[in-house]
Amino acid sequence: MLSQQENEQLTQVSRGTPMGELWRRYWLPIAASAELIDKPTKAIRLLGEDLVLYRDKQGRPGLIGPRCAHRRMSMLLGIPDNDGLRCSYHGWLYGKDGKCLEQPYEQAEDPASTFKDRIRMPAYPVQELGGLVFAYLGPEPAPLIPRWELFVRDGVLRDIGAAVIPCNWLQIMENSLDPVHVEWLHQHFFNYVQERLGRTEFKGKPVSHKKINFREFEHGLIKTRMLEGQTEDSEDWQVGHPVLFPNILLSGSTGRPTFQIRVPLDDSHTLHLWYTCYARDNAKPQDVIPFYQVPVPGIDAATGEPDWSLLDNNSGEDMIAWMTQGGVADRTQEALGLSDKGIILYRKQLKEQMEKVQAGQDPMNVFRDATKNVSIKLRLEEAKLNKNSFRGGKSRQGGATKYSPVLNSEEN
Ligand code: FES
Ligand SMILES: [Fe+2]
Repeated sequence: MLSQQENEQLTQVSRGTPMGELWRRYWLPIAASAELIDKPTKAIRLLGEDLVLYRDKQGRPGLIGPRCAHRRMSMLLGIPDNDGLRCSYHGWLYGKDGKCLEQPYEQAEDPASTFKDRIRMPAYPVQELGGLVFAYLGPEPAPLIPRWELFVRDGVLRDIGAAVIPCNWLQIMENSLDPVHVEWLHQHFFNYVQERLGRTEFKGKPVSHKKINFREFEHGLIKTRMLEGQTEDSEDWQVGHPVLFPNILLSGSTGRPTFQIRVPLDDSHTLHLWYTCYARDNAKPQDVIPFYQVPVPGIDAATGEPDWSLLDNNSGEDMIAWMTQGGVADRTQEALGLSDKGIILYRKQLKEQMEKVQAGQDPMNVFRDATKNVSIKLRLEEAKLNKNSFRGGKSRQGGATKYSPVLNSEEN
């Protein structure tokens, strides 16, 4: 259980809050590069700030304030220029650093005008890596974007899924430190959902957890589990899989690893990305990494009935568990037990890293040495729940029809 103050400290992301300042030490993915192909601008909310992401005529991304400094027209309707974004109302042009570069009428009437030199919009650096657009909202000098091997590995095909989840980011991250929910939410509840949907043929045989363990490592936490029928020699117990501080779960298998990346949009909304690599012989680099939206299950306000058809897969089940804890879970009312030791350890890491930032130091996973940031390797167990007995689950990509024999155990 946390005090109200502790809960606020861990969950709030605005500028000037302890956690908001920790988040502002990281490059955060805010969109897939593919999203800027058909439409060159995208409204972004990030850490409580409203912004506009755009791609200029040379193909370079930029991120500036949402409204023109002149008379506040939305920059979402801005016209991409050779080097920046131009407001559609009177043509003021803004560069990547937010400086006003041109004011057509001002300069036409008074060629000596220096008015533009005094105009500046909020602006933040953006960079692309592995088909994602990353933004950095923190103090200069900006660190490097971590080159986790999934972003830079050769010989794979990739795709990127996204959903905006209407809840605080910490509920989602704590789920990744909670292995026991897999047994219930993704097995017993999954079977119950199948029953509700009249699909008894897809029922699975749940596997129970005997022990769970967590260990700290240089990039975060590694979680391991021992299931019924396993011994201490099992890969699940020995190898496990990592949660990269502060916001990435690595899951899947070495042939098909997935990053689940969580990015706070504000205190009660989180961008969730599924970044998957598919190992393929002779895979050529993709011109564009495909992007898809993942449906978020809703609950009918009038009847309280959830959309059962979106709850027969891991992602849908996880989302409904996160969302129904509330916009920001009230941790003054929680009752943590033995299954929550990973959550307690993660909260301890968060506090330690917040304190580091307050002391003027770089927190965990801030990289500044390019020689140590070429391709950061991560280890993942091969034998997961799917190799044991539980089967079933619908692919999140499929939306409604694509069933995967392994998916229901790949993500946790
Ligand atoms: S409101 Fe943008 S140029 Fe006038
Ligand atoms: Fe889950």
